[in-house]
Amino acid sequence: MQGLTEVLFRRVYEECFPGAIRVAVSPFLSLTHGNLAEAWDKIEDVLPENNVGSIPVIPQILGKEPNEFITLGNRLYDIGYKEINWNMGCPMRKVAAKHRGSGILPYPDEVKAILDVVVPQLKPSLSVKVRLGLKDKEDIFRLVPILNDYPIASVTVHPRLGRQQYNGHPDLDTFGQLLPLIKAPVIYNGDICIAADAIRIRERFPQVADLMVGRGVLYRPTLPLEIENEALKIENLAEKNKHFVRRLTEEILATFPTEQSKIRKIKEYWCLVWKALSISEMQAREVLHQEKLTIVEKMICDLLQ
Ligand SMILES: Cc1cc2nc3c(=O)[nH]c(=O)nc-3n(C[C@H](O)[C@H](O)[C@H](O)COP(=O)(O)O)c2cc1C
Repeated sequence: MQGLTEVLFRRVYEECFPGAIRVAVSPFLSLTHGNLAEAWDKIEDVLPENNVGSIPVIPQILGKEPNEFITLGNRLYDIGYKEINWNMGCPMRKVAAKHRGSGILPYPDEVKAILDVVVPQLKPSLSVKVRLGLKDKEDIFRLVPILNDYPIASVTVHPRLGRQQYNGHPDLDTFGQLLPLIKAPVIYNGDICIAADAIRIRERFPQVADLMVGRGVLYRPTLPLEIENEALKIENLAEKNKHFVRRLTEEILATFPTEQSKIRKIKEYWCLVWKALSISEMQAREVLHQEKLTIVEKMICDLLQ
């Protein structure tokens, strides 16, 4: 997730919960305007030397320019990545308007033209992340037969439309219709916030190869542990979640250079991670209203007691 699950987060997570997450897909590297330099600027996030001690990562690319896609994909392969992921799910309007992210879903011919050029020349294997469509869930039913013609490593489905952004609920009925039509292993993503959500998806769709958790891992950092150890009683969940938030805050304070950048980053996480603590929304909001770093630090420290 852009701005959230970057390498700082992934390293703190792995330190606190070693092995709990098998693999993380990186926030997307964008090929906006076919400009490789922009994606390369953000490459720091996936450079192997920066990812020592991090959750293993699959770099994700957002874009539709085949030549730049191949160049970036093959550079990623050369620095050690055996798989890359193509983002066909981003709902941001300015992205979708240019047939990127979920904006490409209504255009299966464009996807086919890109895959025809990219797949034969790409060194890493390619997985994709999709929504059901941009404005119409028929998009995905037209796209799947195209995807099935290529050796796609996996298809992660977030069963919402792009225009829904994050509103409404994932459309599980449509996901169920889609599942038998997709040749590649299917990964389910969307609104897994507690372990029971994961159990429900696995029970209803046993063919699902894996689960991807997004915001849930910030709402409840212990969630992946709880999903994988549903039979086990995990001790001290509250303490483990607190410890994670404490370590994340410490690392932001140690890593970001200015008072403003430290505050901005802490608040970006705080909007979600406060739910991991036993505090009220009002207490959480008070932190978000503060402008001085010393006060933010003190308030978070008190809330973590
Ligand atoms: C702030 C934010 C940034 C995101 N950035 C990305 C991204 O870079 N690539 C991507 O594939 N999905 C991105 N997503 C979407 C999530 O990966 C996921 O598909 C979506 O949040 C639904 O899953 P969840 O309910 O488990 O969060 C982002 C979501 C949020 C809220």
